[in-house]
Amino acid sequence: MTLITDVALRRVLDSRGNPTVEADIRTENGGFGRARAPSGASTGAFEAVERPAREAIAAAREQAVPRLVGEVYAGDQRSVDAALRAADGTDDLSTIGANSAVALSMAAAHAAADVLGAPLFQHLGGTFRGDGFPVPLGNVIGGGEHAAESTDIQEFLAAPVGAPSVEKAVFTNAAVHEAVGDLLADRGVAAATGDEGAWAPAIDDSEALSVLAEAVELVSEDVGFEIRIGLDVAAAELYDEGVYRYSHTTRELDEQMAYIADLVERHNLVYVEDPLTETEFEGFAELTEQVGGHPSPRTGAGETGTLVCGDDLFVTNVERLTRGIEQGAANSILVKPNQIGTLTAAFDATERAVAAGYSPVISHRSGETEDTTIAHLAVATDAPFIKTGTVGGERTAKLNELIRIEHNA
Ligand code: PGA
Ligand code: ZN
Repeated sequence: MTLITDVALRRVLDSRGNPTVEADIRTENGGFGRARAPSGASTGAFEAVERPAREAIAAAREQAVPRLVGEVYAGDQRSVDAALRAADGTDDLSTIGANSAVALSMAAAHAAADVLGAPLFQHLGGTFRGDGFPVPLGNVIGGGEHAAESTDIQEFLAAPVGAPSVEKAVFTNAAVHEAVGDLLADRGVAAATGDEGAWAPAIDDSEALSVLAEAVELVSEDVGFEIRIGLDVAAAELYDEGVYRYSHTTRELDEQMAYIADLVERHNLVYVEDPLTETEFEGFAELTEQVGGHPSPRTGAGETGTLVCGDDLFVTNVERLTRGIEQGAANSILVKPNQIGTLTAAFDATERAVAAGYSPVISHRSGETEDTTIAHLAVATDAPFIKTGTVGGERTAKLNELIRIEHNA
């Protein structure tokens, strides 16, 4: 019913102006699906390998397309992704590139949903998935690898945990973004925006947190529900020869853990991603023991607990996640399909996480396109949170898709 009949690949622009891979898949019965690969800047060392778009496309045309056309059904996602893996032949997808792989994998899902006449989230998640919505974590101030001359911590996130709907949550994050801009202007701080549309002022992390705390309080009073704060420290980018190097100081592992624990307590953080470097399973376990808990978004105010999330630590990889689960490292996993190259692998990581009591957080990359697949993935997996920026066309593409999903539009 969904036999793949045609595949096309091309280079298109991403939000940084770099070329990325777009895939089209056609099936019998008129199915059509299109998807694009995103691209990271603060990539984890253990991610699947992205190849230059031109090379990834040439390799995929040669190796993967013949194994798809007339061979597999787009609606059978595991077969599609197994064919991609077999065509590639490496563990890290370095033959066809994780960028070609993920674009093809996601395009197949879109094509199958098209044949079925079902929205993608329903095709992926089924009819009996949960009926909650993912709370968007809004990146409103950022530095690190996403903006030069700004904060050391990569992302300062607004988390509208008390929002009664996706729509309210989305507009709340935009309001926090605007309030942060106003507060920075009041302080006489000029700010451009970074790769994900977050403000990138030349202030230190503690000032960024105090500006965000003020913005969150203002907006929270206005909207009448709780907004908490999260961070993506992206600590692997700060880590250098055994220590964490900040602009004005250096922290040893124990100092870094104490620093994070203090931030969690002081700001009642709901979420802290990659507080330690990508090989530090033990430290993650200790920190999780200390501050970890499972906040319940969508249930209103008063919930406490902090998600300690592994992004570069796990790279959406079931084996790395399994090691984390065995050691008690983190209690949450960031899920980025392009880190692992296929939807099947992203789903497997998500399922493994949920089975172990870890919260999955579906995520964009700093380099994005108008692709909306992750919005559907977050709904399909009933993820409590989604990280997909706050403003800017490639970010709003996902946020607006979440609103449409909520409205059955
Ligand atoms: P990246 O950053 O897409 O540049 O890797 C996002 C993140 O670290 O979460
Ligand atoms: Zn991250």
